[in-house]
Amino acid sequence: MPMPRAVYTFPRGFLWGTATAAHQVEGGNANNTWAAWEQQPGKIANGDTAGRACEWWQGRWREDFDRAAEAGQNAHRLSVEWSRIQPTPDRWDEDALEHYRQMVRGLIQRGMTPIVTLHHFTDPLWLAERGGWENPETPGLFAVFVAKVVEALRAYVTRWCTINEPNVYTALGYVAGVFPPGKQDIRIAMKVAERLAQGHAAAYEAIHRVQPEAQVGLTVYYRPMRPARPWFLPDRVLARVEGRWFNDYFAVAAASGRRLLPVGSRRDRRLGPALDWFGLNYYTTELVAFAFRRPDFARRFPPKGAPLSEHGELALTPEGLFAGIRWAQRFGVPILVTENGVEDSTDALRPRYLVEHIHQVWRAVNFNWRVQGYLHWTLVDNFEWQRGWTWRYGLWALDVATQRRIKRPSADLYAAICRSNALDTETVARYAPAALDALLPGVAAV
Ligand code: BGC
Repeated sequence: MPMPRAVYTFPRGFLWGTATAAHQVEGGNANNTWAAWEQQPGKIANGDTAGRACEWWQGRWREDFDRAAEAGQNAHRLSVEWSRIQPTPDRWDEDALEHYRQMVRGLIQRGMTPIVTLHHFTDPLWLAERGGWENPETPGLFAVFVAKVVEALRAYVTRWCTINEPNVYTALGYVAGVFPPGKQDIRIAMKVAERLAQGHAAAYEAIHRVQPEAQVGLTVYYRPMRPARPWFLPDRVLARVEGRWFNDYFAVAAASGRRLLPVGSRRDRRLGPALDWFGLNYYTTELVAFAFRRPDFARRFPPKGAPLSEHGELALTPEGLFAGIRWAQRFGVPILVTENGVEDSTDALRPRYLVEHIHQVWRAVNFNWRVQGYLHWTLVDNFEWQRGWTWRYGLWALDVATQRRIKRPSADLYAAICRSNALDTETVARYAPAALDALLPGVAAV
């Protein structure tokens, strides 16, 4: 019996693309917190540094944008590097702004909508010397920088993302201590979170002042935390409390101008409302179990039975993306999946990961939830922060030494989806047969 065919079509104008971040792809950044962090022994896997990265600053963005456009992508999310544009507090680098202007124009010329992130994990060294986001002046300084960028790029860009994953920036930089500045102090983390939320709202205002028609959002790393033993109250409480701080804090602040407190919340006009769209970054789901002896009272592990990524840390849990979109609905603005992907140098899991997550997006679209697009992380292997070059997220592999790009099968699979604006089981059978069962339950196995 021939296998039935199904075509899961997306709405016209759906945005398909990939996402990148300045420090991870540009190369040659020397004036920001990450460049300094990479010089400290033991901070980055393998002793790696971003180094030349993907050489975008030297012009290789052109060939990579060509790749994306040829693969049917109609959008791209990139970030601008604050330390290039404002190398010292009293100086603007107009050449750097011109460089970014060329890049966003390059996207438009190739038929891709630019989505520009204004802060993606790095800070200028001069800002860090003044206390970074612990300093109450930083939200205002950020807004000044943002206004300058918007002024420069407004002819080409209307969709802005103020801050990428302020929750990850806070958790890894101020609680886990694996991002700069490497602190482990909950009290400072709470302050930093508040300043980042203020920074988002200040940037929101600044952008709308310069460009009234702008669409301004922020992205949050959404990580569902499920109680490992649902019958055990401490696991349930832990999952709830962690999810509230990690997932909800910034979204609630931006959407409603309320600051979450240990119990309840407080209205704070400096935080919002300040949200035109919401960026959802989703990678995986984790189980949490209450563990008295751990400093954070938690043990974390992937759901049992879920296939794992190359280094065993990301579980294939596509239904978490559906849950994330449902969760994001409550903020009342259109949603964009601004990142989703898996580290996988051999492309063993990525095709299945891609198909099953995009299928979940399709499900959400069919509930009439306001999902406007899907951006995969990422186009070409890039510098993966504390993992250095050991984790590979690209649709294209990168040989860092020669800068050669090598296409992974997932690139063709994703191109077929982007070009047809649909997920077709014939394409899936070809590239990711393991995903067929998720699309046609019970049928594929017959
Ligand atoms: C970040 C990216 C990062 C990706 C994969 C996201 O949290 O925004 O910069 O490369 O995860 O780890």
